[in-house]
Amino acid sequence: MSILSESPSSHEIGRFHLEHLLQVGLTDDDGADVIFGLTQKQKTLPSRYFYDDKGSELFEEICTLPEYYPTRTETAILGKHAPEIAQLTGVCQLVELGSGSSTKTRLLLDAYEAEGYPLVYLPIDVSAGILKESARDLLTDYPQLQVRGLVSTYQLALKSLGESSLPGRMIFFLGSTLGNFTPQECDGFFAQVTAALEPGEHFLLGIDLQKPKDILEAAYNDSQGVTAAFNLNMLTHLNWRFGGNFDLNLFQHRAFYNESEGQMEMHLISEVSHSVRLNALELTVEFAAGETIRTEISRKFNLQQIQ
Ligand code: TRP
Repeated sequence: MSILSESPSSHEIGRFHLEHLLQVGLTDDDGADVIFGLTQKQKTLPSRYFYDDKGSELFEEICTLPEYYPTRTETAILGKHAPEIAQLTGVCQLVELGSGSSTKTRLLLDAYEAEGYPLVYLPIDVSAGILKESARDLLTDYPQLQVRGLVSTYQLALKSLGESSLPGRMIFFLGSTLGNFTPQECDGFFAQVTAALEPGEHFLLGIDLQKPKDILEAAYNDSQGVTAAFNLNMLTHLNWRFGGNFDLNLFQHRAFYNESEGQMEMHLISEVSHSVRLNALELTVEFAAGETIRTEISRKFNLQQIQ
């Protein structure tokens, strides 16, 4: 489709504009975070490396799994309250952090459209592939819509929003992604969101509540193995991005609820003692048999914590 023909840095034709903040030198994309994580006592990797184009596809599949309740629950809540949200915010620019397939966004767009508001949408995602694909579908389905996509981390995007082209702005952050931050990262994130908003503008947050361990553990250990493939795909991503030689046959997916911390934890466990090399980072990492890399936490909240 012509409105979506592509260029490497920035591109604007008609209703679609795409900016690649991760390719223009402003970037926090040099792998320092990978080196840091893999040299800790409990090895960790930053969750944004899940979301290369393949990972974003796998994540979309997770969202449709019978065991993964958060997507359908949040979709139902949003569907019910979207008209009320639109009336509350009035005309505003819609800024979505981690937009993925933008499926839930449609509920908001429908509500804003029903109010007769102009539709301006700024999806932010680290995966250019999914951003372009979902923008294309939205532009087809919403003839009045303008899309300004940012291929970016949240941090970089929040610093680069500029002035809103409409009287207001709502930043929204769904999918319980806030739970993927440590308490300290949450504080930093909220400070960045606050800085990106003017007084009277809006922030919409979707987060998951604590619930029985068996429900939680099933949601991150699905019977079809999609979550395992998603977790392991992070190693494939690091292999191509940083010239690595992770052998996916030597790692297994493990997810469990850490009750004392109130968080799901996703790990990749090394079955044997071996070493891995990431050439572009000049890094060699030793793994003991049974040692894990923690790739994600997903914190589950109670109402008091949310307050
Ligand atoms: N934000 C999602 C969540 O915390 C991310 C997620 C879902 C995820 N399933 C996962 C991350 C499996 C790693 C592995 O629920």
